[in-house]
Amino acid sequence: MKLQIPDNIKAITPYPPGKPIEELEREYGLSGSIKLASNENPLGPSPLAVRAMRSALTGVHRYPDGSGYYLTQKLAEKFGVKPEQVVLGNGSNEIIEFLVKGFVSAGEEIITSHPSFLMYQKFVQVRGGENFIVPLKDMRHDLETILELISEKTRLIFLDNPNNPCGTILSPNEFYRFLSEVPEHVVVVIDEAYIDFMADEYKVDVYSLINNCEKRCGVVFMRTMSKAYGLAGIRLGFGIMNEEIAEVLHKVRQPFNVSILALAAGLAALDDEDFYEKTLTTTRDGKAFLQQELTQMGCRTFDSQTNFFLIDINGDADSVYQAMLRKGVIIRSMKAYGFPQYVRINVGTENENKRFLASLQESLVECGYA
Ligand SMILES: Cc1ncc(COP(=O)(O)O)c(C=O)c1O
Repeated sequence: MKLQIPDNIKAITPYPPGKPIEELEREYGLSGSIKLASNENPLGPSPLAVRAMRSALTGVHRYPDGSGYYLTQKLAEKFGVKPEQVVLGNGSNEIIEFLVKGFVSAGEEIITSHPSFLMYQKFVQVRGGENFIVPLKDMRHDLETILELISEKTRLIFLDNPNNPCGTILSPNEFYRFLSEVPEHVVVVIDEAYIDFMADEYKVDVYSLINNCEKRCGVVFMRTMSKAYGLAGIRLGFGIMNEEIAEVLHKVRQPFNVSILALAAGLAALDDEDFYEKTLTTTRDGKAFLQQELTQMGCRTFDSQTNFFLIDINGDADSVYQAMLRKGVIIRSMKAYGFPQYVRINVGTENENKRFLASLQESLVECGYA
């Protein structure tokens, strides 16, 4: 075999996902492990979504409705936009992919921050585009530097708000000012994967930004059903944008990109207000409890408008991550993200939170950091 692999593909390092529980248990011969590494919903999936998927199962010999008619209608209604302004994806990851496929050719540019969600850069590498990476400033997007880097070749700017992994946000006024200065040929993508956990006062007025883009850059908002709705495994996300941008995304997507089960789950989960509210309360209370306990243990924690947060463990994050794995607790080391002393965890159930604290304490002692 003499494979001819393009240089841009050779240069890609695979995305490092949080370690799956099954893999950890296989490798370490453990059972009953917990995972607080991928910002998933600790309560499980929305029960209404589970019920809807069960009854949709008998229809899976057919292709799904490629327009996702009912879900698109429901989302349009929920967000006060037209159905033509909603594009569904196999996870919001796929919306990122559509944007890059639709707007970035080889040699063209995107701008994003570091650290931030890594998939923006990956899809651009696949296209042979150029990533301009701006370091966060005080853990927040550095909008001034981003503006300075915009060129004729810039196609997209990706901003996760809240930012993953820092959990920090930009204020609506910072956004409005920034968007008024971005030239018209650029599309700004605001990734709101964790918006559900953000305080209302910080939320940006998505709809006026999308619909009033005369003489201004295009804006796309991305959302996911993976976090607050508990549907990470079924893969469902969506983007909200003006119709001109949506048309481009439809051109590059497969006709049946969202499965029958995902469509059914999404529709039902949007109606599951009890589950949604319980998720927000569990996250808020769990975060307050964890942060208080961690502070008492002498670990600095960082504010976050999300279901996860950073912890300064005052030692080598990779070593503590490994020690925690051996105890069946999966967290994220932030070493590869440029924070060698920080770990990231998402809020778990009450029991998971307690187990995490006990394992962390033991691991810190084991590693000689406490
Ligand atoms: C900031 C951010 N954007 C997008 C995603 C992708 O979510 P999805 O599961 O919808 O593909 C994630 C997942 O962790 C994320 O953290």
